[in-house]
Amino acid sequence: MANDLILDVQDVRKAYDGLEVLKGISFSLCKGETKVLIGPSGSGKSTLLRCINYLTVPDAGRIYLNGEEVLDTNIDAIRARIGFVFQDFNLFSHLTVLDNVRICQIKVNGKRKDAATERAHQELERVGLADKAGAYPAELSGGQQQRVSIARALAMDPEVLLFDEPTSALDPELTGEVVRVMQQLATEGMTMVVVTHEMSFARQAADEIIFMENGYIVEQGSPEIMFTDSRQERTRAFLNVIAEHG
Ligand SMILES: Nc1ncnc2c1ncn2[C@@H]1O[C@H](COP(=O)(O)OP(=O)(O)OP(=O)(O)O)[C@@H](O)[C@H]1O
Ligand SMILES: [Mg+2]
Repeated sequence: MANDLILDVQDVRKAYDGLEVLKGISFSLCKGETKVLIGPSGSGKSTLLRCINYLTVPDAGRIYLNGEEVLDTNIDAIRARIGFVFQDFNLFSHLTVLDNVRICQIKVNGKRKDAATERAHQELERVGLADKAGAYPAELSGGQQQRVSIARALAMDPEVLLFDEPTSALDPELTGEVVRVMQQLATEGMTMVVVTHEMSFARQAADEIIFMENGYIVEQGSPEIMFTDSRQERTRAFLNVIAEHG
């Protein structure tokens, strides 16, 4: 069905001080798809994710969320429909876990406190943190904090979830618990774009891997093709480096 298209990014461009870091990026995402965005440092992955909800305003191109064009004029409403999980969690340190998961539901979505509380408990349960509702972020491990951040995003009923290197600030032993939550979400049919170096996640969860370099999409394809039969030498070289160091 054509109306399964959740996110449609068309020819997005962005330059900083004359340096073009996105040189015409197009990709799309259907309901329930997980796409993993990979590429070397500085290739424009974060800029691309940020352009989707205008945290960075693109210079050119069009972006559609469920058929509605993302514009300056509707950006607040659009942002409420897009979940964003950052590398460094971005939790409110003065609020409990419960309040972190409930505050946007109340302030942005206008939900009543009891409904927001119930939903927050459901999402904390889903990410394995039912027993941490009363804790403050500083009392949690990085992996737990990141799972709170995922619960907070889920509680907003996002149409798409964007992850920017969600595990790269974590010690290796804490990465697995966050990756498992993301894998579960992918299995459950969440629509997601994930920037990550976790190739085990990419292999298992991605419907498509997009390889970016120097502001271009160099190649995109299923994990099977990208890992075993990628056509571009650059893709192969990058995946080899990740395999050795990542
Ligand atoms: N606010 C900014 N002002 C100026 N230049 C920027 C800004 N943000 C990013 N850049 C530049 O744009 C390019 C792309 O950066 P971006 O952060 O999107 O890359 P990335 O692929 O996410 O890299 P990494 O893997 O290191 O996170 C880089 O050259 C970066 O220095
Ligand atoms: Mg980045």
